[in-house]
Amino acid sequence: MFNLILFGPPGSGKGTQSEKLIAKYNLKHLSTGDLLRSEISRKTALGLEAKKFMDKGQLVPDEVVIGMISSALDANPGAVGFLFDGFPRTAAQAEALDKLLELKNNSINVMLALDVTEEELVKRLVKRGETSGRTDDNNGNVIRTRIIEYHKKTSPVADHYRKANKVVLVKGEGSVDDIFKGLTKEIDARMKKS
Ligand code: AP5
Ligand code: MG
Repeated sequence: MFNLILFGPPGSGKGTQSEKLIAKYNLKHLSTGDLLRSEISRKTALGLEAKKFMDKGQLVPDEVVIGMISSALDANPGAVGFLFDGFPRTAAQAEALDKLLELKNNSINVMLALDVTEEELVKRLVKRGETSGRTDDNNGNVIRTRIIEYHKKTSPVADHYRKANKVVLVKGEGSVDDIFKGLTKEIDARMKKS
C-alpha cells in the first residue's frame, strides 16, 4: 500500500491536486471536508452537528472525524493506498491515524505539504466564495478563523511527521499542472522504494 497525506492550509490546492493524483495513482481519496459536506447535504445528525463548527471556520471535534476515517478505512479493504486530504488536522488525529494504519500493518509513506503564501490563500478562497456555495468561503472573518485554526492546531501535525522524516515541502503556487508535476516527482521517487 502507498499512503499519502496531502497537507496544507485552507485554499492551498489539496482538493484540486487530489483529483489529479487519484486519477494517476488509483488511490482512494479520503477528504474529511468532503465527507462532512456530504453528511450536511444528507441532513444527518453528524452533519448537523458538524455544520455548527464549519460555518464558524472552527475544527469539528476529533472523535467525529476520526470515527469517519476509521469507517472509511474499513470500507475499503482492497485499496492500493489512501490519499488523505484535510486529515489529520490535529496532533490527536495524527496519532489516531498512525494507530489505525498500524492495525492494518500499514503506515504513512509521505506527507506532501503545499507551500502557499497567506495572501494567495485568501485571494483564492474569496474568489471561490463568489460561486462555490460553501458557507465558509463567503465571509472574510470565517476565512481568517480557518487560517488561524490551521496555524494553532494543524501545523503541529507536520512536526509529528517531520520527526519520522516523512515531510516534503512542495511549491503550491503557479499553474495547477506545474504543482502536480512537483507532487508526482516526490511520489514516484518514493513508490519505487516502497
Ligand atoms: P476542508 O474541506 O478540508 O477545507 P480547507 O482545508 O479549508 O481547504 P479547502 O478545501 O478550502 O482548500 P483546498 O486546500 O482543498 O484547496 P482547493 O483545491 O479547494 O475543511 C472544511 C471544514 O471542515 C474545516 O474548516 C473544518 O470545520 C471541517 N473539517 C474538515 N476536516 C477536518 C478535520 N480533519 N478535523 C476537524 N475538522 C475538519 O483550492 C482552493 C481554491 O483555489 C479553488 O477555488 C481552486 O480552484 C483554486 N486553486 C487551486 N489551485 C490553484 C492554483 N494553482 N492557482 C490558482 N488557484 C488555484
Ligand atoms: Mg479541500
